[in-house]
Amino acid sequence: MTQERIAELNERFAQSSPEEVLSWFLAEYGDRIALSSSLGLEDQVLTDMVCKAAASPRIFTLDTGRLFPETYSLIDRTKMRYGVKIEVFFPDRHEVEKLVTECGMNCFYESIELRKRCCAVRKLEPLKRAFEGLDVWICGLRREQSVTREGMQMIEWDANNSMIKLNPLIAWHESDVWDYIRRNNVPYNKLHDKGFPSIGCQPCTRAVEPGEDIRAGRWWWESPDHKECGLHKR
Ligand code: ADX
Ligand code: SF4
Repeated sequence: MTQERIAELNERFAQSSPEEVLSWFLAEYGDRIALSSSLGLEDQVLTDMVCKAAASPRIFTLDTGRLFPETYSLIDRTKMRYGVKIEVFFPDRHEVEKLVTECGMNCFYESIELRKRCCAVRKLEPLKRAFEGLDVWICGLRREQSVTREGMQMIEWDANNSMIKLNPLIAWHESDVWDYIRRNNVPYNKLHDKGFPSIGCQPCTRAVEPGEDIRAGRWWWESPDHKECGLHKR
């Protein structure tokens, strides 16, 4: 896939709705495209859309082993609601054992290096396995979410993984996401009603105060310009 082809696709779908873009990609790539879902609000919107657009869409999630109980129950609620399988990827047990034995159970608070190592073990390695047989991964990124996402395109060439990355909601605002959730009665994480706009692992996510940035509660002890776990490295 060349940069010209990516630019061509972005131009072609510039005026299209997320549903139109998803329908085209799902038809074009069949079982070589999957939604990467953290069960966050955006991913729930995309789950609703892919389930309406395809008979058996592929959806996977990375279970870091440190998710909120509310997130685990949403995995099951979502499967029931849409009658779909959600493929769950665990981290490699040897790597987790080594990490926690050498560095401690909550080493992510100690330094950015250790935090990134934990994300590498619990998210990046399982993601590599989730990618097997895929050409396209669908993500719920939005430009508005953070300074690190401002320059992102709807369709990108993910050079780190040699895959196409599709962000159908890239231009959506938070209000668009909530409108869709309510209009379509999409199941969502109960923590969103308790001050958690963005939800990741339990020890690395806190609630935010009214008026605070939507990602202020993610790795809140770090500065905003490197608050990424490596999944979306560019
Ligand atoms: S993160 O990198 O800061 O954790 P964020 O929570 O904003 O990411 O989610 C952005 C997108 O990354 C999600 O819409 C989803 O596509 C993908 N993603 C994040 N966490 C996971 C996960 N645990 N499993 C699968 N996909 C994920
Ligand atoms: Fe580890 Fe926190 Fe990263 Fe989860 S978000 S993988 S607990 S450092």
